[in-house]
Amino acid sequence: FTPKVLAGKQVLVTAGPTYEAIDPVRGITNLSSGKMGFAIARAARMAGARVTLVAGPVHLPTPRGVERLNVQSARQMLDAVALHVGEADVFISTAAVADWRPANSADQKIKKDGSGQTPQLSFVENPDILATVAHSSRAVSGQLFCVGFAAESHDLLAHATTKRIRKGVPLLVGNIGPATFGQDDNALLLVDEAGARELPHGRKQDLAVQLIADIATRLI
Ligand code: C5P
Repeated sequence: FTPKVLAGKQVLVTAGPTYEAIDPVRGITNLSSGKMGFAIARAARMAGARVTLVAGPVHLPTPRGVERLNVQSARQMLDAVALHVGEADVFISTAAVADWRPANSADQKIKKDGSGQTPQLSFVENPDILATVAHSSRAVSGQLFCVGFAAESHDLLAHATTKRIRKGVPLLVGNIGPATFGQDDNALLLVDEAGARELPHGRKQDLAVQLIADIATRLI
């Protein structure tokens, strides 16, 4: 990046899946690789920002110069975000946060008792980290610019448009095309108040650079 379009800015990124424990050895997660979020953190750093990356369980190296905090559950991710969002100018929520977690996580491993009975799981809803941050006073007053992501299987533009409003964010980025989990490339649809713009198919790192350049133009 020349010039460094995010010099002096603080960027907070979430990435990867969350892991919601059932018992000490089992849990529920999803196939998010974290690659897009890590690419965005790297691009923001290259653009001169100070970057904090809150990562769920992923197997990726920390981008150079980025401060990384590892978490497992959605509630831990929210706590880490809450700790760091106060200084942030930009919050980019790429994490695939589990919508639900088991209502009760057992302290000890759940054992087969030989009766053939199966454990019954019930769920409670996780906090919506992005919506929580986007409705905070700093975000509402424009001091904190929030960006959400959407992975949809169909009708991306319609879903991204309603999701942008429901989450309360100025910019919602849709992943175009079939499952991009784990892949090194993607295409993105940027949806804002004015409409939609496509970043055509390319490597996630190149898309991240384009997205950061776009976000930089939106900051006051
Ligand atoms: O509602 P949905 O999960 O499709 O929304 C996706 C967007 O919301 C992503 O930016 C994701 O990081 C964020 N999200 C969140 N906390 C949740 C669920 C989603 O921050 N519990």
